[in-house]
Amino acid sequence: MRTVRTVADLRRTLDAWRAEGDAIALAPTMGALHGGHLALVSLARGRADRVVASLFVNPRQFGPSEDFARYPRDEARDAALFRDAGADLLYAPDAEAMYPDGFATTVSLAGPALGLEADRRPGFFEGVATAVVKLLTRTGADEAVFGEKDYQQLVVVRRLVSDLDLKTRIVACPTVREADGLALSSRNAYLDAAERVRAPALHATLRATAAALRDGAPAGEALRGGRNVLEDAFDRLDYLELRDAATLAPMDGLDRTGRLLAAVRLGATRLIDNVAVDLEG
Ligand code: PAF
Repeated sequence: MRTVRTVADLRRTLDAWRAEGDAIALAPTMGALHGGHLALVSLARGRADRVVASLFVNPRQFGPSEDFARYPRDEARDAALFRDAGADLLYAPDAEAMYPDGFATTVSLAGPALGLEADRRPGFFEGVATAVVKLLTRTGADEAVFGEKDYQQLVVVRRLVSDLDLKTRIVACPTVREADGLALSSRNAYLDAAERVRAPALHATLRATAAALRDGAPAGEALRGGRNVLEDAFDRLDYLELRDAATLAPMDGLDRTGRLLAAVRLGATRLIDNVAVDLEG
């Protein structure tokens, strides 16, 4: 697995593969790899002839009080893990290569990019979308895989690709979890031992709320119950919401496939998670 940092090197490699008729899948990441990222690479590996992983800690998706400076960075470790998971190429541009001097364009979003995460992280999805458009247009990948862990991001990216006529197919990768249900996340590394014990209550509450909805509980009641549990279990509840799985439009009841999404604060760490909630169960 080679590492390239410039658009010219990236295009040269990918153009050669395309000339051989190879289909290319992209696994975009910010590094600090865990099993969830490796699942993106394996999913890509099973779907395309060539897999490009990208590693770019995108400054534009961090707010001023967020963890950009201390975000874990270890490219050598990440490169070894990408290689072992079956990536053919690592694209690891530096910030100057992504946002050269004078860079002045940001993707502006509405629809699924409003509310939920955007309420707590203003500018986050604009930063994600700007980087994602560049990664998709630079690679021209046939497919790109995004984790369901960041469910709102996945829906925003699908909307973006459709609205801007990008040719890449977006593929969803199921969330990878610890044995106790905690969704893998690079930020789990920030949890201390006592917080780590409390963290699985997020997924447990999402599951219990989804089960109550499937069993016919009115949405208002099920959500109130879930919110109470999360308020007790965590240091702050940002949201627990039932949304349309495809559009993230609010839902008053389980009349179509929904997604339960939640975010909480645990010590200095923000945890997000989500589960499907279908009529069929
Ligand atoms: O999910 C992530 O790691 C990032 O938001 C992404 C998609 C790589 C864009 O920077």
